[in-house]
Amino acid sequence: MPTTTKPKYYLTTPIYYVNARPHLGHTYTTVVADTIARYKRMCGYDVVMLTGTDEHGQKVERAAKEAGVKPQVYADRISNEYRKLWQELDIHPDRFIRTTEPQHVPAVHRLMRQAKANGYVYKGVYEGNYCVYDEMYVDEPLPGGLCPECKRVTEHVREENYYFKLSAFQDRLLKLYEEQPDWVQPESRRNEVLAFVRGPLRDLSVSRTTIKWGVPWPDDDKHVFYVWYDALTSYMTGVGYGDDELQWEKYWPADLHLVGKEILRFHAVYWPAFLMAANEPLPKKIFAHGWWLFADEKMSKSRGNMQYPQPIARTLGIDALRYFLLREMVFGQDGNFSRDALLTRYNADLANGLGNLASRTVTMIAKYFEATLPPPGNAAATADAEPQASFSKEKLQVILDHYEKFQFSQALERIWDLIGVLDKYLVVQKPWSLADDEAQTAHLGEILYNAAEGLRVIAVLASPVLQHASQTIWQQLGQRGSSSDQSLTDLKWGGLRAGTPMGEPAAIFPRVDKKETSERIETMEDEIRNPNAATAAAAPSSAATPAAAPAAAPATAAPAATTGPLKIAIEDFAKVDMRVGVVKAAEKVQGADKLLKVMVDIGDEVRQIVSGIAESFAPEDLVGKTVVIVTNLAPRKLRGVESNGMIVAATGPDGKAVLVTVAGDVPNGTRLK
Ligand code: MSP
Repeated sequence: MPTTTKPKYYLTTPIYYVNARPHLGHTYTTVVADTIARYKRMCGYDVVMLTGTDEHGQKVERAAKEAGVKPQVYADRISNEYRKLWQELDIHPDRFIRTTEPQHVPAVHRLMRQAKANGYVYKGVYEGNYCVYDEMYVDEPLPGGLCPECKRVTEHVREENYYFKLSAFQDRLLKLYEEQPDWVQPESRRNEVLAFVRGPLRDLSVSRTTIKWGVPWPDDDKHVFYVWYDALTSYMTGVGYGDDELQWEKYWPADLHLVGKEILRFHAVYWPAFLMAANEPLPKKIFAHGWWLFADEKMSKSRGNMQYPQPIARTLGIDALRYFLLREMVFGQDGNFSRDALLTRYNADLANGLGNLASRTVTMIAKYFEATLPPPGNAAATADAEPQASFSKEKLQVILDHYEKFQFSQALERIWDLIGVLDKYLVVQKPWSLADDEAQTAHLGEILYNAAEGLRVIAVLASPVLQHASQTIWQQLGQRGSSSDQSLTDLKWGGLRAGTPMGEPAAIFPRVDKKETSERIETMEDEIRNPNAATAAAAPSSAATPAAAPAAAPATAAPAATTGPLKIAIEDFAKVDMRVGVVKAAEKVQGADKLLKVMVDIGDEVRQIVSGIAESFAPEDLVGKTVVIVTNLAPRKLRGVESNGMIVAATGPDGKAVLVTVAGDVPNGTRLK
C-alpha cells in the first residue's frame, strides 16, 4: 500500500465462509463496499478495501470431509472462486485476506494474549447446544433443539474451553452505543443490539477442543480458536497488526465494517469487547444491511433458490448488475430479487434512460457539428438556463450526501432525475428541428453543449456505481483520463471545453428482449446450481446461449470441476438415486421455449420434472418413453414450476438431447446401480 498524505479510509466486507461458493448475497455486500471505496477515492481519500475468506471452523471442516478432501484443499478451491468472481466483476480489493495465511496466526495470538494479560480470558467448562451452521452456542434453543437464528437442529456438546469475560463489558458497551449513537447503523438494528447487551451478558467460549481445523491456541495444543475470534481478527491482520507497524498505525481503526444483519451481534457486541479487553482502538462504524430475498424467502441451497451474479453480469453487463443491486434495494432493509424487475429496470433506466440520452447527444454533435463540441452560449432563454440550474452545486451536494450516508438507491434516483431534466430539455427544444436553419446554429450548439455537459456531470456522479458506462460516456465526450479520477467534491457545471473533438458514438446499454434474456439468465443460473444437469437435460438450451451472451465466458463450474474430473468414492455414487420411469404426460412450460413439464411414473409415484429438452422433443413424442431420472435432487422451481428430479440425457452431435434408457424390461421405479 503506497504512502500518501491523503486522509485514510479503511473499510471491510465480512470475510466469507468457504463452505460453499459465492452467490448474489455475497456479491451484494462486496459491490456495496466497492462502491463506497470508489466514492471515497473520488472524494480524495486514500482508501483500503478489505475482503477475503473465513476458512476455519466446523462448517468448513465438514464440507471438506463430505467432498473427500483435506480442509485446506477445499478452502483453497472456494477461496479461489471468490477471487475469480471479484476479478470477473472488476472488483479489485486492496487486500484479500485468508484466515489460513501464516501471518494471521500471530495476530490472533497477540490479540488474545493482551486480553488474557488484562484478566479477560480464563478456562472453564461448557455444556449445552451448539449450532454448527451459525458457529455459535445456543443458550435457549427452540423446541426440538432448534437454533433460534437459522432453525436448524443444534448439537449437544460438553467441552473444556477458554472463555472470554464478555460479562465484564456490559457497561462499557452501553456507554459506547450511547456516546456514539451512529456507531451501529441503521437505527433499528442498533436497538436490537442495545436490547441484547442490556440483557444478561454471558461469558463467551473462545476455544474448541472438538475440532482440529482452526488457529491453534498458544501453549495448549488441545484447543483451537473459536472461528469468530479468529475471523474478526482478520480485519486487523489485513492492515499489518503485529507485523507491519507503519501500516497498522496508519489504517487501524477501520472506518467501516459492512455486514449482513445476521452477523451484527458478532461485530457490534463481541468484536468491540475483544478489542476493549486488549486495549486496542475500536472500529468507527458498523453498518448492517438487509437480505436479498426470493419470493420473500432467504436464499439457501436446500430451497434451491440460490441466485448467482455471473449470469446477470454475462448477459447484461457488470454495470447493470451493480445498478440493479444498489438501485432496487434500500440499503439497510430487505429487498426481493426478481428477474422481471431486473430486466424492467435495465430497459427503462439504463437502455432507454442513460444509454439513449448519451447516444442521442453524441450522435447529434457528430451529425450537426462534425463531432466537435459547440460553444455553450449565454443561456439567454429561460429554457436554456434550466439544465444548469438543475445541476447547481447545492443540487449535486444532495446526491453526494446520499452517497455519504450510504443511501445508494436515493443517490441513483436523484442522478436519474438529472437524466430526466436533460431528456425533457431535448424534447422541448427539439434540436433536430433547428438543424436546417442556419440562423439557429448557435442555439442548436448551445442546446447540445448543455446536453453534453449535463452528461459529463452525470457520468462523474454515477462513476462509483457504473464504472464502465461512465468511462464510455467520458470518452464519447472526448475527455482524457478516467471519469473515476475526477474529484466529486470539486464537481461543477461548465467543465467541457468548446472545440473538443468527440469520441465515437456507440450504444452503452442495448435494449434486450425481456423474455429471451430472462430465459438465458435462468438457464445459466441452472447450470451453475446443477453443474451435472447442465451436461444432460439442459444441454440444448446452454448450447443456444453463447452466441447471445456477450461475455461468453463459461458458467462458473462447481469447485470440483475447476480442477478436472473429481474421483469419487463408491459411497458418493450411491448417494445418487437414479430410477427407471415411463413418461405419462408432457407439456410446454408457459413462457419458456426450452422447458417441458414432464410427468414420469416411477412405480410408487408420478414425478413432476421440468427439463430443458423442449427443443429436442415435442411433448407428444415423449409420452410412453422409458427414461432414467435422478430422484433425489433438491426440488427447485423453473419459471415458477416445481421440478422434482432430473431426466438423464446425453447431447448428440447436432446439439439435441438424446434420452438415456434401459435395454431390457424392468418395472418402473427400478433403481440403477
Ligand atoms: N464468515 C462469516 C463472516 C465473518 S466476518 C469476520 C460469514 N460468512 S458468510 O459467507 O456466511 O457471509 C455472510 C455475509 O454474506 C452476510 O453478512 C452478507 O454480507 C452476505 N450475504 C449472504 N446472504 C445474503 C443475502 N441473501 N442478502 C444479502 N447479503 C447476504 O457470515
